[in-house]
Amino acid sequence: MTGSRTFTMIKPEAVAAGHAGKIIDMLIENGFRIKALKLTRLSRQEAGTFYEVHKERPFYGELVEYMASGPIIAAILEKSNAVEDFRKLIGATDPMEAAEGTIRKRFAESKAKNAVHGSDSDDNAGIEANFFFSGRERF
Ligand code: CMP
Repeated sequence: MTGSRTFTMIKPEAVAAGHAGKIIDMLIENGFRIKALKLTRLSRQEAGTFYEVHKERPFYGELVEYMASGPIIAAILEKSNAVEDFRKLIGATDPMEAAEGTIRKRFAESKAKNAVHGSDSDDNAGIEANFFFSGRERF
């Protein structure tokens, strides 16, 4: 069965805290199929490019430093309605506002260190997936 695709990262603090296995288990349990997966680390320059859309925001510098601070896990996920359903599963950006049962409610430390990223549109899912994965790394 095919569906639409989204892109996610398990962020440095969640990887360092050993939450990656539980987070991956949650997304599989919720019907997402893994189409690409890797442990990698962003340079500051790469983190700055990935989050360029937030360049003017006051938290941009902090965000770039944090996202380059340690290994992350990047993945492409497939499911019908993937972008919207994955954003529901991860919950609000701020874990204080995230619903019970969401990934951020369970694992995020703060609004900045919020455990996971999820694409906000089909177009951005494609752009973000291309940032990390070549054709031969996708299934
Ligand atoms: P993400 O979904 O990856 O997209 C942008 C990221 O910026 C967001 O998760 C947070 O990690 C970070 N972010 C958003 N708002 C704030 C904020 N007010 N302060 C610090 N970091 C933020």
